[in-house]
Amino acid sequence: MLQIREGSGPAAAIHRGDYTAPAYWIDTVDLSFDLDPAKTRVLNKMTLRRNPDVAAQPLRLDGEELNLARVLVNGQGTSFKMDGDQLVLENLPEGTEPFALEIFTTCAPVKNTKLMGLYVSNDSFFTQCEAEGFRRITYFLDRPDVMAMYTVTLRADKAKYPVLLSNGNLVDSGALDDGRHFAKWVDPHKKPSYLFALVAGLLVAREQRITSRAGKDHLLQVFVRPGDLDKTEHAMNSLMASVAWDEARFGLSLDLERFMIVATSDFNMGAMENKGLNIFNTKYVLANQATATDVDYANIESVVGHEYFHNWTGNRITCRDWFQLSLKEGLTVFRDQEFSQDLCAEPSARAVKRIEDVRVLRTAQFPEDAGPMAHPVRPDSYIEINNFYTVTIYEKGAEVVRMMQTLTSRAGFAKGMTLYFERFDGQAVTCDDFAQSIADANPDSALANLLPQFKRWYSQAGTPRVAARGEYDAAAQTYTLHFSQSCAPTSGQPAKQPYVIPILLGLVGSSSGQALSLHAQHGPGEASLNYLLVIAQEHASITFTHIQEEPVPSILRGFSAPVVLDFDYTDAQLLTLLANDPDPFNRWEAGQRLALRSAINCIATSEDPTRATPLNDAYIDAMRAVLRHPTLDAAFKELVLALPSETYIAEQLDVVDPQRIHAVREAMRLQLATALQADWEWAFSAHEHTGAYQPDPVSSGRRALAGMALNFLCLAATQTGDDIWPGKTLQRFKDASNMTDRFNALQALVSSGHALAAPALARFHALFKDEALVLDKWFALQAGTSDRGGQVLPAVRQLMAHPDFNLRNPNRARSVIFSYCSANPGGFHRTDAAGYVFWADRVIELDGINPQVAARLARALDRWKKLAEPYRSAAQAALQRVAAKADLSNDVREVVDRALAD
Ligand code: PHE
Ligand code: ZN
Repeated sequence: MLQIREGSGPAAAIHRGDYTAPAYWIDTVDLSFDLDPAKTRVLNKMTLRRNPDVAAQPLRLDGEELNLARVLVNGQGTSFKMDGDQLVLENLPEGTEPFALEIFTTCAPVKNTKLMGLYVSNDSFFTQCEAEGFRRITYFLDRPDVMAMYTVTLRADKAKYPVLLSNGNLVDSGALDDGRHFAKWVDPHKKPSYLFALVAGLLVAREQRITSRAGKDHLLQVFVRPGDLDKTEHAMNSLMASVAWDEARFGLSLDLERFMIVATSDFNMGAMENKGLNIFNTKYVLANQATATDVDYANIESVVGHEYFHNWTGNRITCRDWFQLSLKEGLTVFRDQEFSQDLCAEPSARAVKRIEDVRVLRTAQFPEDAGPMAHPVRPDSYIEINNFYTVTIYEKGAEVVRMMQTLTSRAGFAKGMTLYFERFDGQAVTCDDFAQSIADANPDSALANLLPQFKRWYSQAGTPRVAARGEYDAAAQTYTLHFSQSCAPTSGQPAKQPYVIPILLGLVGSSSGQALSLHAQHGPGEASLNYLLVIAQEHASITFTHIQEEPVPSILRGFSAPVVLDFDYTDAQLLTLLANDPDPFNRWEAGQRLALRSAINCIATSEDPTRATPLNDAYIDAMRAVLRHPTLDAAFKELVLALPSETYIAEQLDVVDPQRIHAVREAMRLQLATALQADWEWAFSAHEHTGAYQPDPVSSGRRALAGMALNFLCLAATQTGDDIWPGKTLQRFKDASNMTDRFNALQALVSSGHALAAPALARFHALFKDEALVLDKWFALQAGTSDRGGQVLPAVRQLMAHPDFNLRNPNRARSVIFSYCSANPGGFHRTDAAGYVFWADRVIELDGINPQVAARLARALDRWKKLAEPYRSAAQAALQRVAAKADLSNDVREVVDRALAD
């Protein structure tokens, strides 16, 4: 269907296959800014030359919401025309000699609510240029394969904007007339426009000088608003750890004299890796023990690492085009995951981190891969690139890189990285270039042998399923595993070719509980406890010999591939794995499978799920054994005791009744609360004290388990009517010496629906009314809390009317609206459709302010086709109402059109 719209008409899809090199190169850029919130003047002096490899053609420069004042070529006026948003220059000098192009424009940062390009936040200036924001600052070839050297001069009022920052090194600064001043920055590395940044404002910095392994001195700075300096220590420590880690693990050193992080409270995403001047959402910088939880500390560590690691994977080698986004994002997520694991002192903490990462993949990426926005890790087309900063590009992309490491070994992968930098440093390249480098550095590896098939992970969308079946021959003492793989069709990809799937596996004796030695029938001589089977065909089998007792297979250890594994385990087999599997991931997975099975049975059969008891005694006893286990650590216990989320349960079903799922999961929570009450009391008292606050994995795990215990104890109290534990919880809330304990206590009161929740919430607000990030938690907790008969939506409406609510601030909008629409299925999917009506209103309202944020919210109804009635029709109507709006952004248009397609 053709969408008729005002102005520019329907936005066309952009196809990967249409890539052509740029017709011009831009070698140098000299930018001067006169910063003013209402009217900033931008003088852009470039040197360009024609690309001799491309047929001669006019120069077409991207621009958006700019006022053009002047264009000069080699200092002379020139003719130009506008074609839509593009500035077209037809009469440029012929030949391949460089020429000078000067463009003078103005823009209005204070009116910029999209937070793309140059904008104002808390009276300071910030930029965001990825993916296509630079064109909102000046006319340019705004594409990542055009890499230039930048010089930037900033001029602004000195009192209002004492700090003036841009990429690279400060080469000059000083006073100007009228109370103004200037700073001149030169970036010593060439870069694509999306890595440009400037910051101007009233900021203060924590500074740290370091000497690298290579013996070079560097200045590290973390800039924040005055008053926030006491919340920068953890970010700085994380940055120092990142620098050291990249040198130690990959031999990659900091290539700048100065590396800056700046925090802003108005930011669409988490953070941005601008060369030498990373700009961060405050959420991923600011932390002290009074305001940030353990989870915040861990997120800061990984996001600081992520952006720092981009300095090589993304900045030194960048993407040829935006279809290659996972080249930098998948690889850099893999690197930040490895960084966080390597910082763990204990192997069990590494496993906990892996489980958390897999949980994100399975609850967010698997649904994406099965829904209307499914796309390959390297997409073939898009309408709005902003919609493709997805869990598929990031998290699945990281799994693809992880599989390459599994197929080449840790040392082999590091060799591959070295070759990648030898070949491509300073260039804009493709996912193929990366995979080829890793394979070429490991010529005898399974990756090299199977590279074309392996690369289907980049080209095919959808989550593969691996079905496995085992056969034990007691007489022959052999055990054979048969595998077959498949992948459901996705939009535009009706049939899938087999994937290369590394399956790490082991066997556990069903009676002994012992890990069995693995002798593969036709494999290498030595036995081992883990076996890596690489399957590349639709069907594969493996036989192990000398198997003296019937084994339980532990398949896909460490989640060695991003697939769904179907194996028809008995409950007894899963209990064996839960008790004995030496692989912590599969040990956790066995518990999840048991819980999921109970949930699904109950959802299918229960007459009244609100009164059901879905969990059986064997499961509850097993959970008690884990909780009371003498050697397992607390963080791991907390993960095992956590039930699968409502979203994850929904994904396992063909037809989804969100209220039934919610009721069944709540019934399971209640069962765990009451059946294990004495154990939770023990767990709380055994873990409630963690000493002087440290955000390390061991003490974080103890706080997490104590928090979980309080949650269940307050829930049990709603049954017994006993106020002892809610009272103790309120006391802990008041006395807490860190935000983790305080917030966990608050959450226990709120999620149990206890009357003490209201005074605790009021007190929390009063304590933290000046801490924006803490208020975000206060809003999110209420909007995301467990629904009991429909109370959440009215509460959400009230929160939106609260004086501290602000729809223009993305963090605050997310804390209320996303916490409700995207993270609270029991509250959102209402039989009266009011949740969907609220959603549609907010999507439309936000689209007028910030299309990127609106489009993310629009995705809350991606899976509407799976819903049972009456939800399905109501969700469709809400989507249709949004789609019927004439002047939607491309961002929201692409999401809702795809959701409604077919
Ligand atoms: N490139 C950023 C990151 O992953 C994410 C981002 C994308 C930020 C687009 C802003 C805009 O690290
Ligand atoms: Zn990134």
